[in-house]
Amino acid sequence: MTVTKQITFPQNFIWGAATAAYQIEGAWDEDGAGESIWDRFSHTEGKVHEEHCGDTACDHYHRWQDDLDLMQSLNLRAYRFSIAWPRVLPDGRGAVNLAGLDYYDRLVDGLLARGIRPFVTLYHWDLPQALEDTGGWPARSTAEAFVEYADVVSRRLGDRVTDWITHNEPWCTAFLGHMFGVHAPGHRDAAKTAATVHHTLLSHGWAVPVLRRNSPGARVGIVLNPVDVTPATQSQADLQAAVLQDGLMNRLFLDPLYGRNYPADVVAYVEQQGATFKSVQPGDLEAVAAPTDFLGINMYSRAVVSAADAPDGKPMVTDKDVERTEMGWEVYPPALYNLLCRLYFDYKPASLIIAENGASYSDGPDETGRVVDTRRLRYIRDHLAQARRAMDAGVPLKGYFVWSLMDNFEWSFGYSQRFGIVWVDYDTQQRIPKDSAFWYRDVITNNGFDLI
Ligand code: FCB
Repeated sequence: MTVTKQITFPQNFIWGAATAAYQIEGAWDEDGAGESIWDRFSHTEGKVHEEHCGDTACDHYHRWQDDLDLMQSLNLRAYRFSIAWPRVLPDGRGAVNLAGLDYYDRLVDGLLARGIRPFVTLYHWDLPQALEDTGGWPARSTAEAFVEYADVVSRRLGDRVTDWITHNEPWCTAFLGHMFGVHAPGHRDAAKTAATVHHTLLSHGWAVPVLRRNSPGARVGIVLNPVDVTPATQSQADLQAAVLQDGLMNRLFLDPLYGRNYPADVVAYVEQQGATFKSVQPGDLEAVAAPTDFLGINMYSRAVVSAADAPDGKPMVTDKDVERTEMGWEVYPPALYNLLCRLYFDYKPASLIIAENGASYSDGPDETGRVVDTRRLRYIRDHLAQARRAMDAGVPLKGYFVWSLMDNFEWSFGYSQRFGIVWVDYDTQQRIPKDSAFWYRDVITNNGFDLI
């Protein structure tokens, strides 16, 4: 006998999909857009898989109306996208490029006309190259520039956008971009990494009141990529490695955001690496801890940490015999439950959203044109079930955004990894909703699903 369990969500649960500007827009140099650090990085030989770049990507910059129609047909209630800072301020600061602002203005209106609620991310990694040239995130002036940018965008869109996200995954900005060199701008420097942690958080905190002023009644938050960390064994060494990993990936960001200062053990570790948190000035920590309306989390996997492979700030899956996506990331849905409970009961954010969750599988169209991506469907389903479990435990989870609406430029992996619930043929730019997209549409319609 098959036992079916019904998983249902509250009436006002926010069902969405997420993207980011550089990953889908293309048109990198059109209508007055400035160069971003991702343009520079991907145009530099040897940085991205097979020299792929976002010059054209999904050509969403030109196809946005069709893409919005597609979202509507999938019944999406919300859409999380990011704004390309260099489209709006080509030099990072100063002169505003109205054509860039107009583009996002039309996009927001197009969403609202289709009944889709916009969630705007201000920084999803495409810093204007001009600001990198004056020191980038390791420079305090970039945090000041971010606030000016947040001001310009929210003055224009603040009457219609009610949900604002300052940063996407500052851990990636800091560590992937400044420590491991695998993301733009490609530095490998502990001092720059520490300064970037502080300046991204500071720019977030400074921007919160600006967004509130320009967008009255709006909800403001930040999106992190916290990880459910488990020691590989109960040995003292593995336990210590897990504590440090949790410190580097989770507490380093969450503690200051929730008014607890930078964690002493992580600061000590960073100092051993020859870096410091000397970029912290009086008043900064109060600014960073500005109260927010939600904490967004991006969740894909977990980290099983052993002393042998830690600490380097990277999630390590040490168990060889586990199910993995094509990114090599372990599929472990209970980590979402663990993470949501830990974050809520430890930090008490006003509310939470899952701002990204999804899986890379390359299943493409079969001879009939259908994309049978059963593994992705199961991945999303099993994570949603864990999200619901966390809600039953008392976590105020308000929404879920699948990553991603469509296949796109997956940063250093180029187009080799497909996360979309919609297939993209990069030669023709044809979009084909995969089975997971139709399933997700029905989940939204029914506000739930059957778990068989
Ligand atoms: C997250 C990013 C997103 C995408 C997914 C797979 O870290 O925010 O842009 O690359 O991973």
